[in-house]
Amino acid sequence: MNQQDAVNWILSFQKKIESSKEYLTDLDQAVGDGDHGINMNRGLQHAAGVLHEKTFETPGDVLKAVSTAFISKVGGASGPLYGSAMLKASGSCGGKETLEDEDVKAMLRAAADAVQARGRAERGEKTMYDVWEAVVRAAEEKEDIDWQHVRMKTAEAADATKEMQAKKGRAAYLGARSIGHLDPGSVSTRMLIESLAEVLESGDS
Ligand SMILES: Nc1ncnc2c1ncn2[C@@H]1O[C@H](COP(=O)(O)OP(=O)(O)O)[C@@H](O)[C@H]1O
Ligand SMILES: [Mg+2]
Repeated sequence: MNQQDAVNWILSFQKKIESSKEYLTDLDQAVGDGDHGINMNRGLQHAAGVLHEKTFETPGDVLKAVSTAFISKVGGASGPLYGSAMLKASGSCGGKETLEDEDVKAMLRAAADAVQARGRAERGEKTMYDVWEAVVRAAEEKEDIDWQHVRMKTAEAADATKEMQAKKGRAAYLGARSIGHLDPGSVSTRMLIESLAEVLESGDS
């Protein structure tokens, strides 16, 4: 994964979020305040602008800029969560120009750990951490990342939030009434990972 792959990753994510912003907002209307699609779209529009304007040397530089966009433009719970995930992911990349699979695994773990720390989230609490945690486990299963497997496990983890009761975030106020609805942040995190898989599965990472 080089800096161009990192740019393509985020631009692909931006397109997915843009075309799903109403869907994400509907999901957030059921368990939260209905702003997740709007928040994410605003941050990613800004991030895409920055990625088009500036040049970057390394994947870490790209993710740093994306982190800043999330923190400054997204707001809500998801802004700081995605912002710290991207910041820690960037830190994990260091100054490397190219990331090997081992580095990509470390990057994903750093992002997952950041979400867990920032959200004080544990597995099974119906948050985006459920997806991050599944992504890391799936990526680490094979020496060379099996992206098809990662995609499958990511989708399963996002779908599994439907039957969970929310213990963190706004959805927790609903108690048992949160059961039966997908967690919006888990669905957007699934899109982030699908974009990464699309960029990396075709060639060498
Ligand atoms: N404490 C937390 N830990 C991990 N993820 C969380 C936490 N609180 C909320 N989230 C995630 O954030 C998503 C909601 O994001 P968003 O709607 O943008 O923010 P807000 O809840 O402030 O309106 C949830 O679907 C969930 O995945
Ligand atoms: Mg919301």
